[in-house]
Amino acid sequence: MKNFFYGKKRVEESDNIELDLNNMPNHIAIIMDGNGRWAKERNLPRSMGHKAGVEAIREIVKECNKLGIGYLTLYAFSTENWKRPKEEVGALMKLLVEYLRKEFEELNKNNVVINHIGDITKLPQICEELLIESYEKTKNNTGLVMNLALNYGGRDEIIRAFKNMYNDIRCDKLTEEDINDKTISDYLYTSGMPDPDIIIRPSGEQRLSNFLLWQSAYSEFWYSNIKWPDFKKEHLHRAIYDFQNRDRRFGGIK
Ligand code: FPP
Repeated sequence: MKNFFYGKKRVEESDNIELDLNNMPNHIAIIMDGNGRWAKERNLPRSMGHKAGVEAIREIVKECNKLGIGYLTLYAFSTENWKRPKEEVGALMKLLVEYLRKEFEELNKNNVVINHIGDITKLPQICEELLIESYEKTKNNTGLVMNLALNYGGRDEIIRAFKNMYNDIRCDKLTEEDINDKTISDYLYTSGMPDPDIIIRPSGEQRLSNFLLWQSAYSEFWYSNIKWPDFKKEHLHRAIYDFQNRDRRFGGIK
């Protein structure tokens, strides 16, 4: 069952932030950046940065669910991340397997849907199997939908959509007149989901890096110098608070 809140909520005494619970983002997307630099600052291997990044995922997923956020999309592995050393790719895949195995019970108990976006058929077989199984077992949950973006790239997603549309046109399932904003959205991995209201990128970089290209047309961006492993629920509250104080006009005027 979804959490419902009314009015304002002081999220944490330490935050000193009041969130307007009637104006929460429905979809939060995060580019989890800075793991490598976090590790380097501590003279640790990069994989330790990713491991610490998983801890941050745990906290943020829990908090989003508690706040009644509808969707949380986490950019965990891009179509370009295959260019990294084999050891690092292997470590990331291992962390994914560990995360799904260790966290499944807790996430399911907390009513979270464990979803994925991206071409998971190119991941190691065990990752693909666990992702499918986790989704199948949680798809009827009614809490937060957590989208793990894996082997995901915005351009790749759009190419795939064009190809599928082309095939559907060829077999008369789709006509030129049918093509509009909504149909294109329906051909993306995020079909049926709202566009992200806010995209968070920690670690000081200010770019989209091939993330949710179509869906981010009217997303608010929120940047911070915090590296992902140090990202705590207080930072999430601050991002939501700032989002609530933005003037969203969607190209119109007020
Ligand atoms: C970017 O930081 C981070 C990634 C490419 C991977 C993110 C993955 C995790 C947080 C953990 C694994 C995911 C799951 C779902 C278990 P970077 O390595 O580019 O950092 P840098 O820019 O400081 O080098």
